[in-house]
Amino acid sequence: MVDVAVTAAEQALPLHVAVIMDGNGRWARARGLPRTLGHREGARAVRRTIEAAGDLGITHLTLFGFSSENWSRPPEEVSEIMSLIRFYLRREIAEMKRNNIRFRVIGDRATLSNDLLSLIDHAERETEGNAGLFLTLAISYGGRAEITEAARSLARDAAAGRVDPDQIDESAVRGRMFTGDLPDPDLLIRTSGEQRISNFLLWQCAYAEFFFTDVLWPDFDGTALADALGEFARRDRRYGRAVG
Ligand code: IPE
Ligand code: IPE
Ligand code: MG
Repeated sequence: MVDVAVTAAEQALPLHVAVIMDGNGRWARARGLPRTLGHREGARAVRRTIEAAGDLGITHLTLFGFSSENWSRPPEEVSEIMSLIRFYLRREIAEMKRNNIRFRVIGDRATLSNDLLSLIDHAERETEGNAGLFLTLAISYGGRAEITEAARSLARDAAAGRVDPDQIDESAVRGRMFTGDLPDPDLLIRTSGEQRISNFLLWQCAYAEFFFTDVLWPDFDGTALADALGEFARRDRRYGRAVG
């Protein structure tokens, strides 16, 4: 049942790193700036982190950009974040192609604007043949919504006679996740000092190591990432086994 996990157990380097990029608002507030400028600076940290991840040998990087709960923020902030994501995608697609990055978005696409959706489709199509860093950006993403949708789609198939309910196992559920074809995150990093998961990758992080840092997301860089990897290398991943 833990076959994937056990093969990764002895690895000192996390292959899949997930990041809850938090603290943009506090970064701005500390400088007397509007929150939106914190998000802009956060976008620069995204670029740095992607570069550093590739250099450090990480194969999968999954970034939490906007949660399903973030829609409850003031409309001006939501619209600024969406504009930033559009701007970022337009600007970075050439760079992703150059760097052999494979790009994917996870989340509830039905809530995204048409222009953002077409940029996402374009970026995914243009990079789908790439074999370098697999970059996943979570937008309008919620872990509970993802699990709920997996249950709904299995129930639909069971009701239609396409799936035998008694045959539904963990790998069948995994296969209905946005990340069904990716390894589970080995390491989950959260910046800004908060120590919670905020509805990110609930299913996938069952055995992830958690690393919390006080660094605010706009200040995150390759050194901060290397610190997290250093700590990861010292962890003892047991997957329920006895201390050996
Ligand atoms: C993370 O920074 C970015 C998003 C959630 C979109 P925040 O905007 O949450 O920053 P803080 O937590 O208010 O400092
Ligand atoms: C989580 O950060 C979502 C992202 C980083 C995109 P939040 O700032 O929304 O999380 P809470 O509200 O502090 O839990
Ligand atoms: Mg926050």
